[in-house]
Amino acid sequence: FAIEKYNVKRKQFGTVQESDINYFKSILSEERVLTDENDVLPFNIDWIKNCRGQSKVVLKPRNTEEVSKIIKYCNDKHLAVCPQGGNTGLVGGSVPVFDEVVLCLGLLNKIISLDEISGVLICEAGCILESLDTYVRERNLIMPLDLGAKGTCQIGGNASTNAGGLRLLRYGNLHGSILGIEAVKADGTVIDCLTTMKKDNTGYHLKHLFIGSEGTLGIVTKVSINCPVLPKAVTVGFFGVKDFQSVLKLYESAKLSLGEILSAFEMADFNAINSSVTNLNLPNPIDEYPFYVLVETHGSDEGHDAEKLNRFLDKEMESGLIIDGTVTSEPAKMQTIWNLRESIAGSSLTRGYVFKYDVSIPLGNYYDLVPMLRKKLGNKALDVYGYGHIGDSNIHINIVVPEYTKEIGSQIEPYVFEEVSKLNGSISAEHGVGFRKPQYIHYSKIESALDLMRELKTLMDPKGILNPYKVLPEK
Ligand code: FAD
Ligand code: MLT
Ligand code: ZN
Repeated sequence: FAIEKYNVKRKQFGTVQESDINYFKSILSEERVLTDENDVLPFNIDWIKNCRGQSKVVLKPRNTEEVSKIIKYCNDKHLAVCPQGGNTGLVGGSVPVFDEVVLCLGLLNKIISLDEISGVLICEAGCILESLDTYVRERNLIMPLDLGAKGTCQIGGNASTNAGGLRLLRYGNLHGSILGIEAVKADGTVIDCLTTMKKDNTGYHLKHLFIGSEGTLGIVTKVSINCPVLPKAVTVGFFGVKDFQSVLKLYESAKLSLGEILSAFEMADFNAINSSVTNLNLPNPIDEYPFYVLVETHGSDEGHDAEKLNRFLDKEMESGLIIDGTVTSEPAKMQTIWNLRESIAGSSLTRGYVFKYDVSIPLGNYYDLVPMLRKKLGNKALDVYGYGHIGDSNIHINIVVPEYTKEIGSQIEPYVFEEVSKLNGSISAEHGVGFRKPQYIHYSKIESALDLMRELKTLMDPKGILNPYKVLPEK
């Protein structure tokens, strides 16, 4: 696979020595210190195979105390650390760039408590999102976020990236849902802000520093999170639409018609859905259309909700906004539709190299970049498609090319980010900045804000050992 060559120089960190390995083995056990090249390799490669690091050691702590000891030691010895959750991140933030020590959080996987009355779950950072969702569903609650990577991503990774996902329009982002955080600072100090209160105005809201800071300000070890009630009725509609203007009109109409039960409004163009259908052999329950819309409702009355969505379908088929569509409350059929949408992310990985963009753009211009990129790249691209979370103005654009070349890379970047900036969008909507985007962050953040970010970084991690080369651009 392609290994991108960025112009980044290794900073003057220490190099892991035999004595360091012995220390790590003394606080963890032998089998939780990986040094064999084959064992370490998967931790060096990101999910989308855009980035590859050269770490020689992976550490697998089992609790906060062990994390604290490791981080304190690394800070004292000036060893750089790359925290890694489920390694499903899409901006190269979760893998080392050079020989950083990989801190794997997967064994911090205990559920600590669930208050079934308030819905507050407390758990360790390494818990897999889907496992948490299964656990709380058995108790009539759901996790407030859902994403295609749920089977692998961890709640600590979700917190550290402020992951958005498929139902953000209904349940909000993690700055709201996460009530408290326990984190380990770069010097090993444990910051226990694991409050479970929705209301807690006791000074600065420190949890927000860790939410979305992608492992550069501290290691998240526990979270408390507010879980909404399990909806009694779930309905999914999948609609074929003739053009993007109709998608927008449909969104406006869905908000009016479905009101408080609307839980997702997703769109994908023909090429995006076709990528799941042809590359992964997934069934499409309706015919082929230029655009597709997936609408989901979460409510409390099955008959009532399905009727509402069916009425919406009838009305908009009559108006011509929907050409064809299906509405279902059957779990297997809903799953088929969601699979089609959630699989787009990985559907082209076997075809070549995928340039992936996660941006937000005001809705009027939401889809503009896709035709612009198709025109600009012509037959150099095997495919260009757009899909995403309309409700959050967040579009994902995938550009599939036979293989990575610098030449094609320079045709796409910084062009994409320039255009997003001209349209007053954000160059990273929900995936973060990671290793892929620090040099472009200025398209969405002014210099004075970047300076304050640098000051915070220096305050919290004076030696810069936590996830170096990520998020912050070099000055
Ligand atoms: P990792 O990938 O391991 O790490 C992500 C970042 O967080 C890295 O910078 C890492 O250093 C840091 N980190 C991880 N754990 C910790 C910790 N405990 N403490 C401190 N830092 C930590 N994202 C969305 O927002 N919305 C989506 O809809 C969405 N869908 C996806 C679908 C697929 C198929 C895939 C592969 C990815 C998707 N993503 C999505 C991106 C990704 O899943 C999220 O960013 C997720 O939150 C990452 O979690 P993770 O545990 O895999 O973290
Ligand atoms: C999604 O919405 O499917 C994810 O954010 C992943 C992607 O960008 O493909
Ligand atoms: Zn997304």
